[in-house]
Amino acid sequence: MSKHSCAALIVAAGRGERAPAGTEPKQYRRFAGKPALRWVLEAFAQHPAINPIQVVIGRADRDHFDAAVQGLKLLEPVIGGETRQESVINGLEALREHGPTRVLIHDGARPFVSQELIQIVVGGLEEADAVVPLLAVNDTIWRKKDTDFECVPRDELRRAQTPQGFSFEAILAAHRQYRDVAVTDDMAMAKLAGLGIRGVVGEEVNLKLTIAADFEMAEKIASSAFGEVRTGTGFDVHKFASGDQVWLCGVSIPHNMGLAGHSDADVGLHALTDAVLGSVCAGDIGVHFPPSDPQWRDAPSHIFLEKAASLVRDLGGIIAHVDVTLICEQPKITPHRDAMVKRIAAILGINSSHVSVKATTTEGLGTIGRSEGIAAQAIATIRLPAGVQ
Ligand code: CTP
Ligand code: MG
Repeated sequence: MSKHSCAALIVAAGRGERAPAGTEPKQYRRFAGKPALRWVLEAFAQHPAINPIQVVIGRADRDHFDAAVQGLKLLEPVIGGETRQESVINGLEALREHGPTRVLIHDGARPFVSQELIQIVVGGLEEADAVVPLLAVNDTIWRKKDTDFECVPRDELRRAQTPQGFSFEAILAAHRQYRDVAVTDDMAMAKLAGLGIRGVVGEEVNLKLTIAADFEMAEKIASSAFGEVRTGTGFDVHKFASGDQVWLCGVSIPHNMGLAGHSDADVGLHALTDAVLGSVCAGDIGVHFPPSDPQWRDAPSHIFLEKAASLVRDLGGIIAHVDVTLICEQPKITPHRDAMVKRIAAILGINSSHVSVKATTTEGLGTIGRSEGIAAQAIATIRLPAGVQ
């Protein structure tokens, strides 16, 4: 690791007691289809000065974490403690063996940290042992005193954000020494240890998901980050061959025939893979996985779809919606529809509510009507940051 490397420590082990109830902790809630923690991690991963990245997660959150971080280069996560402070020290202790000289400590619940802010904090560490983004208070502030109120001069007040940057050994020593003093951020630790603190200007957009109103604001911010909408379509046909099952949309369905093909012949996933590839103008499935290449013989088709989805992610984009139509007389699709939707959502790393699978017959007409094979068509809608080439 480079002597000048700056590690990132992302604390994401909280339970989000003040957040609106949901099926997952707030740091895994999706904004514009992307989990909050992934927004954070992509920002740090993108910054050239940051390496390595250590995340601290809740004991019960491993599945959420794995789903949120697909394809990102991170250290093995460590488990957090009862308080943010305990989670930070767990992360610092784990980072120690990697020998960073500096560390940026950031809340996993602040999804919109910018490259500029990361740079300002990293840069500030050239001259100070502690760098903290601060914001002025613009509202008039009143302190409640029994039934009365007293005005607090707001000029003196600052709101602290993260990432807060530190000399690594100094902040680790501070956390060890003042473990029994309860604090709510790492600047407080730096103060206790007498480190020189440099304040830099924070960003309003770098909000922390805390209460319901923050979630509404975050959805608006996230949505505005993807100005470009694109679509792609795909179509595929496979003919029946002898066999006792067919793979359709990642689900195995018992049948009195199989489908012929080089891979598992999952016509639904093939059409969808082409649709996603089309949305990023990346050729078709045959370009990426030539049928002439023996390594794809009998391959499970989720590999193809995962590759296509990774190309969207590489452009900083998200898959907003996909819709697959299976065209066949047999087998009956309806009993398997929900399983197909769930499977596609899992492969793409998106919510099931953004995946549609439906089926139709051709009323006995033509090749498909004569049950010689199965056809599928698909459409994918993706959103990219405005200006992506
Ligand atoms: N955090 C943590 N470990 C804890 C508590 C908090 O890693 N035991 C993290 C949170 O996941 C969050 C950051 O510290 O990214 C800021 O904490 P906060 O906003 O208070 O999050 P929660 O503690 O999850 O929320 P709440 O206080 O409403 O329960
Ligand atoms: Mg908390």
